Amino acid sequence: MRLIVLAAAAALLAGPALAADGAAIYNSQCKACHGAAGAGGPAGPALKGVARRKVASAPGFAYSAGLKAKGGAWTDPNLDAFLTNPGGFAPGSKMFARAAQPGDRAAVIAYLKTLK
Ligand code: HEC
Repeated sequence: MRLIVLAAAAALLAGPALAADGAAIYNSQCKACHGAAGAGGPAGPALKGVARRKVASAPGFAYSAGLKAKGGAWTDPNLDAFLTNPGGFAPGSKMFARAAQPGDRAAVIAYLKTLK
């Protein structure tokens, strides 16, 4: 319960400062696979415009069958669930990285929304 309240508070505070924190988290935990500023990398799909994009829809990336079968779009709750536990969100996902801290996820999601 307390976590839900904290997550809601974090979402309300979402703004430039949060996105800046998210950029630092992205650069240390996501960039190696997803490329600088979400340009896409050798091991991960491009994340430019990922917010609200259809799940598993970056052109030219060979997604897992599990993520392709998931359907839907990358809403905030879906991004939060995926980053919490990719294999729980989409069984068989090829992404094994996760962001364990709710605050880190809120920040990195705010940053993903700036990638256009
Ligand atoms: C070790 C490499 C690796 C790291 C590190 C990594 N990812 Fe991923 N990511 C992947 C792969 C591979 C996929 C495709 C998963 C699949 O096909 O099941 C993916 C998929 C995604 C997707 C879905 C994209 C789409 O087009 O549907 C998002 C969002 C995402 N990653 C965000 C992140 C964030 C944020 C981080 C940092 C906290 C991160 N990833 C760290 C490899 C990585």
